[in-house]
Amino acid sequence: MTSWDPTQYARFADHRNRPFFELLGRVGATAPRLVVDLGCGNGPLTLALAERWPQARVVGVDNALSMLAAARELDAEGRVEWVEADLATWEVGSLGAAPDVIVSNAALQWVPGHLPLIEGWVAGLADDGWFALQVPGNFGAPSHRLMREIAREQERSVELEGALKRAGSAEPATYLQFLARAGCEVDAWETTYEQVLDPEGEQDNPVLEWVSGTGLRPVLDLLTEPAERAAFLEPYAAALLSAYPRTAVGVILSFRRVFAVGHKTPAPAAAPAVPSAPTPTS
Ligand SMILES: C[S@@+](CC[C@H](N)C(=O)[O-])C[C@H]1O[C@@H](n2cnc3c(N)ncnc32)[C@H](O)[C@@H]1O
Repeated sequence: MTSWDPTQYARFADHRNRPFFELLGRVGATAPRLVVDLGCGNGPLTLALAERWPQARVVGVDNALSMLAAARELDAEGRVEWVEADLATWEVGSLGAAPDVIVSNAALQWVPGHLPLIEGWVAGLADDGWFALQVPGNFGAPSHRLMREIAREQERSVELEGALKRAGSAEPATYLQFLARAGCEVDAWETTYEQVLDPEGEQDNPVLEWVSGTGLRPVLDLLTEPAERAAFLEPYAAALLSAYPRTAVGVILSFRRVFAVGHKTPAPAAAPAVPSAPTPTS
């Protein structure tokens, strides 16, 4: 399991939060009773769900105790039910009611084999319910390609490559088809954000700061010994500086994200019985 540092993750919060609100903009639920956030993280976005639907019971699910602790601290009024669970085994049925909205923002890329899980979650949605996901689609970007290349040069290359391979996401059309097969009307799309990091010029290596909060976590978890960590980080930091040079506006990190929103269409009402043909009278 990947470790999470809520403080590091909260840096760049504006860039990380924007896709969530763009995702939510396509969810048409008006008065949901039960709203669930899968991979809720450190909490601010789950609390935004509670603000959007003040009458709803809101549940945040995550398996990182550090993130859940930060979320509980943020939620001083106890508005949200924070649940520790692994999404690979979490079941909708554990909620005791069918959710009307399930949201998962920037989390499912960490759950290998999440496509079949989505089918199960949608099956557990209430009729007329909504399922909305956003995942990074940037595993081919220089930030990640360089990570894999430098991992291959390390003594513990096999472990590193294995750990990095576990994270991944699918294409918008794949999520579209999975959700459609599960009985949803689907809206799927992608957006590449040209993110300007550190316009003030305060950070030595803003892209390294960015990935240290997310994509680099599996490497940092494995390489805990200072010398082995330095053997990875020194070439990786240098490669990032070349791949993402500072410009007049800051360091530009192009970031592709994949979105899919499914609306579970109510099961069609039973067709009225076909009236039997009138008996000819003459
Ligand atoms: C990048 S953070 C996103 C947090 C939040 N949704 C947001 O958008 O700010 C990914 C979150 O997914 C959680 N996560 C990853 N794998 C998980 C799993 N198998 N089960 C539950 N949570 C998981 C992590 O603990 C982390 O809090």
